[in-house]
Amino acid sequence: MAEVAKKGLEGIVVAESKTSLVNGSEGKLVYEGYPIETLAENASFEEVAFLLWNERLPNKAELENLRSTIATEATLPAELIAQLKSYPVKADPMAMLRTAVSASAMYDKDSEDNSVEANRRKAIRLTGQITTICAAWDRIRNGKEPIAPRKDLTLAQNFIYMLSGDEPDATASEAIDVYLVLLAEHGMNASTFASRVTVATGSDMHSGIVSGIGTLKGPSHGGANAEAMNMFLEIAEPENVEPWFKKNIKEGDRRIMGIGHRIYKALDPRAAILEEKAKALAESSGNEKWFQIAKKLADAARADSYFIERKLFPNVDYYSAIVLYTIHLDVDMFTPLFAMARVVGWSAHIIEQFANNRLIRPDVNYVGPMGLQWTPVDQR
Ligand code: ACO
Repeated sequence: MAEVAKKGLEGIVVAESKTSLVNGSEGKLVYEGYPIETLAENASFEEVAFLLWNERLPNKAELENLRSTIATEATLPAELIAQLKSYPVKADPMAMLRTAVSASAMYDKDSEDNSVEANRRKAIRLTGQITTICAAWDRIRNGKEPIAPRKDLTLAQNFIYMLSGDEPDATASEAIDVYLVLLAEHGMNASTFASRVTVATGSDMHSGIVSGIGTLKGPSHGGANAEAMNMFLEIAEPENVEPWFKKNIKEGDRRIMGIGHRIYKALDPRAAILEEKAKALAESSGNEKWFQIAKKLADAARADSYFIERKLFPNVDYYSAIVLYTIHLDVDMFTPLFAMARVVGWSAHIIEQFANNRLIRPDVNYVGPMGLQWTPVDQR
């Protein structure tokens, strides 16, 4: 008798991992033994990258070495910049990123080397280059020349610098840095799984990261941050929240984007941190409208029996949308920003997969017809 298929692979454990623990019933997230709250409060993105790639925190010299190596490796080959300039300016930024990262493999001397040393070098290089690609693309599509990364900046500062060309604004860089820390890693999420499946065939890190980017793009995963912001923009005013909720959610069949999660059946701890950040940023920017809309909608959902029964809470994409919008990023750049962070988690998992690899190949129950008679094509 065939086993019953687990739709969406819910509850299936596919690997042992030291990278992170996601406790969905208690709403806890731990990277390599450190609670996410501690890391969000104290760690820089580079510190978290070191932690996830080396299973320990760096000392001061190691941290500075990693920061400056990422900044140096963030420079793009001239051929890749020329390619970016040839893409259609209206291209979806995630489609652009998927293509550019795939192309970058052909200019990477390590691309076909699957040794742990080469994979570590590629993890660093891709982390730097994805940030540069994102910033360069935003300039190119706005008719501006891309700006090369500076060797003295952190990745978050470099992103703001490469977007604007100005000395990086402290508030924006700090907000990006915390965002990157919070989004760097998250257990066996869909895009990480896709990355691991890809490299488990003996393929290479760039292919794994491209799979991750393609998987992250969907609105059920990383694409939800842009969808959440588009929903807040559609609501437009705090007083519209209740009628919008009634019409679209209670009487309609839409979902609240940025709410619900396969694993979290309690508040996503990253959403709790980002709610605080979004509130503080909204207050200091003098524009609290978008935060108020988000808060009011989350409160409406939290008070509703449908959401209570299904244990649906805001996830990381919900308040991150407000954070990114408040620092004036274009909405369609939100998901590429998620990829800028998650490349660290994807690459950590890829290294882990290579260290103890076996082809990932699940099974399927065939439910199609059997024993059909062949009809020649001219008789069909
Ligand atoms: N709004 C309204 N109802 C919802 C929502 C939502 N956002 N999310 C889930 N539900 C309901 C479903 O309709 C379903 O109800 P039913 O049991 O009556 O059919 C129930 O809750 C369970 O939903 P599933 O889709 O089966 O849950 P699943 O674990 O497969 O999906 C997902 C999780 C995709 C995140 C879902 O909650 C969703 O679509 N949320 C909105 C998109 C989103 O925010 N995605 C980002 C996730 S976090 C991340 O990837 C970074």
